[in-house]
Amino acid sequence: MRMRVLIITAVAGLAGLASAAPTAVPPSTVVVKDAKGVSYTGDATAGEKTFKQCAICHSSKLGENKIGPSLFGIVGRVAGTASAYNYSAANKKSGITWTEQALFDYLENPRAKMPGTKMAYVGLRKAQDRANLIAYLKTLRPPPAAAKPK
Ligand code: HEC
Repeated sequence: MRMRVLIITAVAGLAGLASAAPTAVPPSTVVVKDAKGVSYTGDATAGEKTFKQCAICHSSKLGENKIGPSLFGIVGRVAGTASAYNYSAANKKSGITWTEQALFDYLENPRAKMPGTKMAYVGLRKAQDRANLIAYLKTLRPPPAAAKPK
């Protein structure tokens, strides 16, 4: 009898632990869909390697513009708003908000998606590569504590 009570307590304890740690899904997880409706889940570690293609022109650091604007905080940012960067009219007036899905669609073929852009990059044709890259881009943001000061 006493044994059973102990077991129940132990199970309840485990359940408590599980609910105290709801971060089974890492914050950098992205799920995007291609034109056929197929979903892709991104892997930030793989995406960091792909970012080397972007790093020729883009910095991952806040406020550091190179040939292209800083990509710090790009996921969720309104197009054409990196400070002190001189955008083309096409980019500045695109009206895009860089959601995960918008980045996924754009990066396949930037110059086709945004006629007139001065981003001279051919694009990433593989959907999985784009999903991974966006998962990495999503990590380029202030740590949660800094984002929400208490
Ligand atoms: C050859 C240089 C070059 C490469 C490589 C490049 N970009 Fe760009 N990128 C630019 C330039 C220049 C702009 C500004 C475009 C404009 O103003 O028309 C830009 C703009 C952007 C924007 C819009 C930013 C905003 O604030 O609206 C995004 C998003 C972006 N690039 C992502 C990427 C990613 C991701 C990669 C890698 C897969 C990449 N770029 C590779 C030069 C480059």
